[in-house]
Amino acid sequence: MYERSILFPRATSQAGMLACTFGDCREAFDCGIRRGKCKLQDGSEICMKTFLDETVVKPVNRVMEVWAHRGASAHAPENTLPAFELAYTLGADGIELDVQLSRDGVPVVIHDERIDRVSNGTGYVCNHTLDELKGFHVNQHFPEYGSVTIPTLAEVYDLVKGMDLLINLELKNSEIFYEGLEEKVLRLAEEKGLEDRILYSSFNHYSMRKIRKLSPSARTALLYSEGFMDIGAYARRNGAYAVHPSLGNMDYPGVDIVKECHDRDVRVHVWTVNEKADIERMRQMGVDAVITNYVERG
Ligand code: G3P
Ligand code: MG
Repeated sequence: MYERSILFPRATSQAGMLACTFGDCREAFDCGIRRGKCKLQDGSEICMKTFLDETVVKPVNRVMEVWAHRGASAHAPENTLPAFELAYTLGADGIELDVQLSRDGVPVVIHDERIDRVSNGTGYVCNHTLDELKGFHVNQHFPEYGSVTIPTLAEVYDLVKGMDLLINLELKNSEIFYEGLEEKVLRLAEEKGLEDRILYSSFNHYSMRKIRKLSPSARTALLYSEGFMDIGAYARRNGAYAVHPSLGNMDYPGVDIVKECHDRDVRVHVWTVNEKADIERMRQMGVDAVITNYVERG
């Protein structure tokens, strides 16, 4: 329905078309409003936003990649199908998402161990079956998205299959050690034929070691938040493809994480880089990718 590389002045009817790529809609709509709903051909409504103040373009030959943190989470409910769809529309090179297991062992995409912050429900993800989880709406921060639900990992894979996006799958297993999570995500990647597009990451480095043991060709990244010493050598030693430091780590005096890692053939992907100035600074530092809530700023 649209070319990713074309310039989108978001206040035009083009924006309506963009919104409709998520629904079953063949027509363009004149939706030059900042936030609202569009009617689809089948009579249902889809939520959309226009970006009146941003002209979004996906730069050709980007040096540093831009990955959407929990999807385009500044504009749509985090870790949902609309957020991943919008990330693609906004020109992301990749998406980051968080995976846990439902009570009946299905990989689902949600950040917190509890569903309370993002949904109209309560309790731990691991205490709800998939059926129960699907009954909650994860629209707490974006009520206009209505009945949007927690997606399964399989649903996200089906959505992004045809999109040229890297998938950074973060295993959320530092507080709850989900039994069989590594095996399940590896199996699903194989079933969907997406192995080559996935980069696994976790704060739980034992889990990344397990991923590599189960699937030696899988790419892993080591997440960390504060002052990890000799991270390049550590990553190399543990067979990691990349390190994922939080932004604050990039300012430690006398430490050049990029050089330390690149010298050892380890990539550096930094989170969560939301300010335009920081995104530019990371580019200057030679970072390989930033993970951001605002893809359009990259
Ligand atoms: O993967 C980068 C980032 O998402 C890690 O922190 O808490 O947002 O999952 P968190
Ligand atoms: Mg994450």
